Amino acid sequence: MFDQTLIRKYNIPGPRYTSYPTVPYWESDSFSRRKWLESAKVSFKESNETEGISLYIHLPFCESLCTFCGCHKHITKRHNLESPYIKAVLKEWETYCTLFDGRPRIKELHLGGGTPTFFSSDNLKSLIEGILEKADLCPEPLLSFEAHPNNTTREHLEVLFKLGFRRNSFGIQDYNPTVQKAINRIQSFDLVKEVTATSRDIGYTSVSHDLVFGLPFQTMEAIKDTIEKTASIRPDRIAFYSYAHVPWIKGTGQRGYNDNDLPSNEDKRALYEFGKEQFLALGYKEIGMDHFALPSDELSTSMFNRELHRNFMGYTSSKTKLLIGLGMSAISDSWLGFSQNVKTVAEYERIAMSGEIPVFRGHLLNDEDLIIRQHVLNLMCQFETDFTSSKEQFPELEDCMSKLDEMESDGLITRTGDQLKVLEKGRPFVRNVCMALDLRLHRKAPKTQVFSMTI
Ligand SMILES: C[S@@+](CC[C@H](N)C(=O)[O-])C[C@H]1O[C@@H](n2cnc3c(N)ncnc32)[C@H](O)[C@@H]1O
Ligand code: SF4
Repeated sequence: MFDQTLIRKYNIPGPRYTSYPTVPYWESDSFSRRKWLESAKVSFKESNETEGISLYIHLPFCESLCTFCGCHKHITKRHNLESPYIKAVLKEWETYCTLFDGRPRIKELHLGGGTPTFFSSDNLKSLIEGILEKADLCPEPLLSFEAHPNNTTREHLEVLFKLGFRRNSFGIQDYNPTVQKAINRIQSFDLVKEVTATSRDIGYTSVSHDLVFGLPFQTMEAIKDTIEKTASIRPDRIAFYSYAHVPWIKGTGQRGYNDNDLPSNEDKRALYEFGKEQFLALGYKEIGMDHFALPSDELSTSMFNRELHRNFMGYTSSKTKLLIGLGMSAISDSWLGFSQNVKTVAEYERIAMSGEIPVFRGHLLNDEDLIIRQHVLNLMCQFETDFTSSKEQFPELEDCMSKLDEMESDGLITRTGDQLKVLEKGRPFVRNVCMALDLRLHRKAPKTQVFSMTI
């Protein structure tokens, strides 16, 4: 049984560390679009010919609102919105391409959302062909997309496969009817089985299922059944996300149920521990904080080769220095800086079509940020980090280390010489370990709750 005292002690609001500095700590006042583009150009020059670049394309539309959802989405049934949106994304891409010194080489391309399969396969085809008119694919490119089982057709899967996509991920969340009703997301097991089988039949090599623990009305029985059903399909990857309850964020819709309908902190953690035990017994490897993958899947091999990376999309098996995010709310990362696009479709389309890059905020990393960022990445991906070289140190290091005393005496971490290791027992608290090194958080603690709980 999981140690409940530890949960009570360490379950505090904290970042998910998909970036460092985390978004609330970006210094947007000293940021400008011009500075962002300069940093993107520098990164492009340094990395395009060697490793290539990554593209993330945000496709925000969904036909109905799942009330638990924390993603940036636009709920509509109007499919005539597809074409103008794609036009705007291609215009944004063209604007980036005119800035770059050379023809982009794409190593990784991910369609996220929202729901990419809201778009017709013809429209997705013209989007990808439009992108590739101005770019080349690197050898063995990694093309992936997110899909909703309810609206993914064989045609979608075939068209995207022909364009080079080999990985997809389906939102499942939970199969229990009471949970599905509470989150306003009814989808059957048979349907999921079918879209997964069709994907494999066509040739997709990695199919992932997203499950969420901590949802309203979710019980141990419900998760047990969901895991059994998942096991019978045996997806290559499973994302097992902790439900992020952030009803104060505008547009989440997380008000369709009460806080009392959610499992308690202890019950929520027990759901994860149960899931983890089952997945490991089924032969999956635990990847980072919330993923599981079959040993044959690239996510597993990248973890063993210490190449696992984490960015705004979560864990990924490869990293490029430059990630360009296209579309409403998309985040870009040049390693030297971050930027985020405006968050409404109308504003996004207006700015993108005028030939401007529609960023509205961002952050340029200073030397200290770059050092801390690497440690946070090491901890989130490998559960350890090292401070041996002077390049890995910073003046406040001793102070940060002293914040870990209690975690060490609780048996969650070890510190030997210049090495910090998160122990098996400490893995659920890896976000708390990162918080000890988060100098921006130390200097200015938030006055109201901005982060979800760490456990
Ligand atoms: C963009 S959706 C996936 C594609 C498609 N829209 C769908 O729902 O099937 C991305 C995933 O984020 C996860 N997610 C969304 N809101 C969440 C929240 N509040 N807490 C934890 N995970 C969440 C869900 O597992 C969801 O499948
Ligand atoms: S979970 Fe997926 S389909 Fe549901 S609202 Fe969020 S992005 Fe849209």
